[in-house]
Amino acid sequence: MTISTKALTLGLICAASIAFAKEGVQNPVVKTRMDTMGVIRVNTAVLGDMAAGKAAFDPAKATEAAAALAAAASTIPQVFAPEETDPVSEALPDIWMMPDEFSTKAETLYKAAQSLDTASLDGVKAGMGAVGGACKSCHETFRMKQN
Ligand code: HEC
Repeated sequence: MTISTKALTLGLICAASIAFAKEGVQNPVVKTRMDTMGVIRVNTAVLGDMAAGKAAFDPAKATEAAAALAAAASTIPQVFAPEETDPVSEALPDIWMMPDEFSTKAETLYKAAQSLDTASLDGVKAGMGAVGGACKSCHETFRMKQN
């Protein structure tokens, strides 16, 4: 492998594991909250794929993903606290007009992630509805309509 290919490969690995935010985001505060959502998305996907049978059930991986999801969810009120925007942001101004409601929805996700029973596939399957519902409930109210 040449040096330049190696550098490129490393760059791609970094891009996949660190840069979650939407391309073109300029405001670092907005980027941080997008990255938080990215962490949430990735860990939800790990659990969702197991629940859907797209990935083999692995209790250690499921426990790790649920913990990472809960940890990221617990930081939502904090990372969204500054009223910042960016041309590519999908955040609605209601976040800062109804901060209590926003935080309550973040807590709903936190609780759903924390109460996931990751010891069995049935437990994960049973808990993912609440996780998905928490995303949907907040996005419907506080995020611009997708597609
Ligand atoms: C408390 C509210 C809230 C909850 C709960 C929530 N989100 Fe979000 N999410 C937002 C808001 C607001 C945005 C838009 C942020 C922006 O563009 O500035 C967003 C954006 C996103 C994005 C796009 C990030 C980007 O790079 O533009 C993804 C992906 C995402 N959420 C996934 C999820 C998933 C998956 C869940 C549930 C497991 C979830 N979110 C739960 C409020 C929430």
